[in-house]
Amino acid sequence: MCVPDRVVTNKDYEKIVDTSDEWITSRTGIKERHHVDDGTATSDLAIVAARRALEHARMTPKDIGAIIVATATPDMLFPSTSCLVQRGIEAGNVMCFDLGAGCTGFVYALGVADSLIKTGLDNILVIGAECLTRITDFQDRSTCVLFGDGAGAVVLKKTDESNRGIIASYFGADGSAGEFLYMPAGGSRMPASHETVDQRLHFLKMEGNEVFKLAVRAMQDASVKVLKLAKMDPKEVDLLIAHQANLRIIDAAAKRLKLTDDKVFVNLDRYGNTSSASIPIALREALDQGRVKRGSNLLLVAFGSGFTWGSVLLTW
Ligand code: ACO
Repeated sequence: MCVPDRVVTNKDYEKIVDTSDEWITSRTGIKERHHVDDGTATSDLAIVAARRALEHARMTPKDIGAIIVATATPDMLFPSTSCLVQRGIEAGNVMCFDLGAGCTGFVYALGVADSLIKTGLDNILVIGAECLTRITDFQDRSTCVLFGDGAGAVVLKKTDESNRGIIASYFGADGSAGEFLYMPAGGSRMPASHETVDQRLHFLKMEGNEVFKLAVRAMQDASVKVLKLAKMDPKEVDLLIAHQANLRIIDAAAKRLKLTDDKVFVNLDRYGNTSSASIPIALREALDQGRVKRGSNLLLVAFGSGFTWGSVLLTW
């Protein structure tokens, strides 16, 4: 994982918008988050996370068979951030592409990488990386307190061990709910102009309440469905690593599965919502804390703009 050094607390937000530590903590569970400085872009964080993942995997960049970067905040529209990562880590001339599924991006990318491995590729570098503060409107108190920047990376590798690896995955989307969470300008529908800048249309817009309701349902359904696909009882889950957007949403998913607190990983208090980076960052910290061991059954579940959702059940 890689997060920028600069930590911004709820108290810091009290100085820029009409909010309070109490409101943010009670509604979201977030206490602080990391913000990039001017000059840092998504690929910068992704490259550091990728190098660290390779180190943990005891691999060199030349071992990598493909690079997928899940992001909603690429450095630029093109070339893809994954190509910038390839150049940055000096990987070989392997397939590189970005995947856009909002906060579900990392989980979607794991599913795609799993499929690529089944077609014969190996050692897929899967990265979730975001600079969400670049598209955050710091005049909008209902969104600006939520987001942080960061990146996380894994190397997905073929295994012959039948009792390890990805057991089942489940993905879905509902395009009709897209405008509850979107960035209006900067694409081909509404290219950048003086008007789009004046109207603050290059920032993320969100109907928090609507997203909240959809998110609770999507996270619960995706969790239940993947367990059903794997014919696994929730009791067999050792750790739920959910997208870290809101503690109340994670709690609702955990409650549906009747998971006790020791089986639920939470670190959004220190990072906020880092979108597609949140699950790989949480995974790294769960490993560091000894909460993921060889043989642990992990349930990864996410929801995000699109509206998208997905879950991956795996044995570490
Ligand atoms: N500080 C103080 N008051 C605030 C703030 C703030 N930062 N933000 C909003 N309020 C006010 C609102 O203006 C509103 O005031 P009003 O009643 O006078 O109009 C009041 O608080 C309640 O607002 P709600 O939006 O109803 O608050 P809610 O309990 O729904 O919490 C929140 C808002 C935290 C955004 C919640 O809806 C949520 O978490 N939604 C899901 C968001 C999410 O997870 N998004 C990311 C998903 S996808 C991705 O990760 C990119």
